[in-house]
Amino acid sequence: MNEQLKTNDPNTNPKRTIRSFVLRQGRLTKGQEQALINLWPIFGIEYNANSPITFDTNTPAVLEIGFGMGASLIEMAKNAPNKNFLGIEVHKPGVGACLMAIEENQLSNLKVMCHDAVEVLENMIPNHSLDKVQIFFPDPWHKARHNKRRIIQPKFVQLIYKKLKLGGVLHLATDWQHYAEHMLEVLTQAEGFENLSPTGDYIPRPDDRPITKFEKRGQNLGHGVWDLQFIKK
Ligand SMILES: C[S@@+](CC[C@H](N)C(=O)[O-])C[C@H]1O[C@@H](n2cnc3c(N)ncnc32)[C@H](O)[C@@H]1O
Repeated sequence: MNEQLKTNDPNTNPKRTIRSFVLRQGRLTKGQEQALINLWPIFGIEYNANSPITFDTNTPAVLEIGFGMGASLIEMAKNAPNKNFLGIEVHKPGVGACLMAIEENQLSNLKVMCHDAVEVLENMIPNHSLDKVQIFFPDPWHKARHNKRRIIQPKFVQLIYKKLKLGGVLHLATDWQHYAEHMLEVLTQAEGFENLSPTGDYIPRPDDRPITKFEKRGQNLGHGVWDLQFIKK
């Protein structure tokens, strides 16, 4: 795991210049550190561009990008044992925390990866393999000069489109109104996607999406929340 992370360090990998994250190597708790050693081999999937992931075709597959500390992903996986979940996050303490919670809850339907989700999608996720892609509260990069780092961009949405099955859904949520408007514009213009909002814009938070850690922080600051769901037609 450590070696792999060093060689794939997204901050130093010269192949991509604009990234949707800055790697904050926050301190690991003892528990997270142990989980990254002991639980990673069981619930973790190493990044390997030459080894595409095989999804069970009889079970719906849900991909979450940027799960943070993983609490809401754990909740969703617990509530939907009939679905398989894959979570991708670059923040190591978050991956460690999620591994601990997988074991604590004895989940057999959730695996995690610690790598740039763009590269994972490009190189490891087969086309037409996902029933759902969810990205909750992606970094808003709210300064105009940083807007280009937002993960939701036309090219990225096209990549997700390729990976979704027909009838698959992309679910986004943000607490930053300008980002919500940007998401709506990008998705509305994306060929092949149809907005599931009856009003042609946003939807109320669906019952199956737990409130996330980042969302709670925003709510305490008085932020609004915008959910968007688009289906691959
Ligand atoms: C603002 S946080 C939100 C976390 C969580 N979804 C929540 O709502 O509490 C965004 C997360 O996305 C992760 N992230 C950003 N770009 C990513 C990428 N390309 N691949 C994987 N994770 C990414 C960041 O490390 C960060 O933890």
